[in-house]
Amino acid sequence: MPLVSSKEMLQKAYAGRYAVGAFNVNNMEVVQGIMDAAKKENAPLILQVSPGARKYAGPIYLRKLVEAALEDSGLPICLHLDHGDSYEQCVAAIKDGFTSVMIDASHHSFNENVLITAEVVRYAHERGVTVEAELGRLEGVEDDIKVTAAESSYTDPSQVREFVLRTGVDSLAIAIGTSHGAFKFKGEPKLRFDILEEVERLLPDFPIVLHGASSVPPRMVSLINGNGGAIAGAKGVPEDMLRKAASMAVCKINIDSDLRLAFTGAVRESLVGNPSHFDPRQYLRPAREAISEIVRHKIINVLGCSGKA
Ligand code: G3H
Ligand code: 13P
Ligand code: ZN
Repeated sequence: MPLVSSKEMLQKAYAGRYAVGAFNVNNMEVVQGIMDAAKKENAPLILQVSPGARKYAGPIYLRKLVEAALEDSGLPICLHLDHGDSYEQCVAAIKDGFTSVMIDASHHSFNENVLITAEVVRYAHERGVTVEAELGRLEGVEDDIKVTAAESSYTDPSQVREFVLRTGVDSLAIAIGTSHGAFKFKGEPKLRFDILEEVERLLPDFPIVLHGASSVPPRMVSLINGNGGAIAGAKGVPEDMLRKAASMAVCKINIDSDLRLAFTGAVRESLVGNPSHFDPRQYLRPAREAISEIVRHKIINVLGCSGKA
């Protein structure tokens, strides 16, 4: 089976009231861990690559890893560019075989965001590639660019219809209180479900995307801190909130930080517990297993997409 766009995947998720997991990949063990879980659960999958990941691993290596995942699993996989920040970057990814791209022009004015997104949509749609855009701005760190709380903003529901009609975009990321990274809330977690409800009312049957959707499980934070780490105060989005979002118009849920935490916790525990180990396979094997475990947990208990491949 070739790589697929996200069109059908997200339509099915909308109709079935579940969400597809979009997992960020950077290296072989992360890809293999995700694939192990998706195969066990027969789940549809979006593997997403940020511009930073392309720089780190090299575009060819990442593409080949995803091709291997496809060949090995036979599952429907969409290869998605996460947070593309320019038309040129999206075009380069499409030329490289990506079947879906995000153009994140949310830091521009509404009108500029429309113009840049529409340009990407024209190029992508001629090639059967789906496009995700963003309205509103999430707090947190992406690709070394830090968006502060003051710079972040909730999505204004009154803009979404015009944005989608003028751009022709296939899915829309909205800001309802999630943020990138492992430190999402200082006090009680709170998401603006009223904004999501209003967007769903104004854009019926249209797939919404939730970024910054890691749960930062306390047991992973403890494992890291208990093995020499220092990430006290890390907090994520409670799973019941994500399940609620997935049962609404949210069809794609982006998860990166939880994979990083799972991987790092396993590596730290392995190295601290086995000071004589120096073969990377000895500590990367448990890291790969930890990725599989967390992704499987998400598929079954959070996304609801087990058996939907
Ligand atoms: O939203 C950002 C993702 O977590 C990717 O992060 O740019 O550090 O690869 P990155
Ligand atoms: P997290 O940092 O919550 O995992 O979000 C990842 C993300 O939104 C990637 O685009
Ligand atoms: Zn994101």
